[in-house]
Amino acid sequence: MNEYIPFHKPMITEDEVRETADTIRSGWWTMGPKVIRFEKKFSDYIGSKYSVSANSWTSAAHLALEAIGLKKDDEVIVPSFTFTATAGIVCYFGATPVIVDVQKDTCNIDPAKIEAAITNKTKAIIPVHYGGNPCDMDEILELAKRYNLRVIEDAAHALPASYKGRKIGTIGNVTCFSFYVTKTLAAGEGGMLCTNDEEISERSTLMRLHGINKDSWKRYSDEGAWYYEVVAPGYKYNFDDIHASLGLAQLSKIDYMLQRRKNIYHKYNSAFDKNELISTYNLKNDRTSAHHLYPILLDIDNLRINRAQFIEELKAQGIIASVHFIPLYRHTFYQKNFHLENSKYSVSEYIYPRIITLPIWPMMSDEQIERVADAVNLITKKYKK
Ligand SMILES: Cc1ncc(COP(=O)(O)O)c(C=O)c1O
Repeated sequence: MNEYIPFHKPMITEDEVRETADTIRSGWWTMGPKVIRFEKKFSDYIGSKYSVSANSWTSAAHLALEAIGLKKDDEVIVPSFTFTATAGIVCYFGATPVIVDVQKDTCNIDPAKIEAAITNKTKAIIPVHYGGNPCDMDEILELAKRYNLRVIEDAAHALPASYKGRKIGTIGNVTCFSFYVTKTLAAGEGGMLCTNDEEISERSTLMRLHGINKDSWKRYSDEGAWYYEVVAPGYKYNFDDIHASLGLAQLSKIDYMLQRRKNIYHKYNSAFDKNELISTYNLKNDRTSAHHLYPILLDIDNLRINRAQFIEELKAQGIIASVHFIPLYRHTFYQKNFHLENSKYSVSEYIYPRIITLPIWPMMSDEQIERVADAVNLITKKYKK
């Protein structure tokens, strides 16, 4: 059989090895100088005033909601097509995630459906830039302004991406990124909260490390003191120098990795151009995508196999594809606790049985890209009704 093509593989060079080895040899493994350097470089790259690192997107976004003062019984608007973390963090507060349907052509939250979901309990909107393609931010910001809501962007897929010339990370009140191993900047685990709001930056910095008023490196290094004060029941969410080493190495080639994924995006697009049994996602001219995912929609009404069988056919050829996402309202937890009905999400219900996400990672060779594209085209041809 042909060599197997994974769904994702991080780009690994000597930079990652050197930077991490340097940290390991230094003996400073937890939050220290590399985390500080990574945060500074990240802010410079994004153009945000503050970057507060954390050990995942989930913890960064939890910190963001805590910093805006989310309370029990509040409501937060989230899209249906996302990972559970987007809504899970809302539940941490005893608040309600109000799940809104997405647009058919982007899988992003549909601004036209947000207004109907706003009540006097709504405190924030969490738009997810699905696959790295920015949401309709003007419409979302306009609604947020009108109803006095905060916008916390889920940019787990959107590094780097831009909307009308502005980098994602500089638009809403807070933007959170993920450095999970499959993401466009892979540190194994990790996350970043970006904001221009000093209060949010200060509060999340405090809460990410036990509510202690000084970071550990200040406490234990020569410049710091042994004294510290606990001013709030904070979390243990800090990033660390080992993961920050990977982050630094990856950040230095973030634009190069984007170019590689963009190249794959264009190659797939032209390979599927004439395949009537597949639709691809197009991008609007006013924004750029991070191309974290490459979703396709199968015309299942004209195929003799369903989506799961299609994925198995790819697997038989050594190609690992995935599904992003199982819509939130279909998960037992959200269904049971928030009394959700699939029928209220007509667009998501259309997309879900049809969607497949294909491998798109920086070091895919031309031969691997062709193998994936050929396999998809051959399977559709073989099972055409
Ligand atoms: C849209 C979205 N939001 C949030 C997350 C959570 O990220 P992390 O694993 O860094 O907490 C993910 C991870 O897959 C995601 O895809």
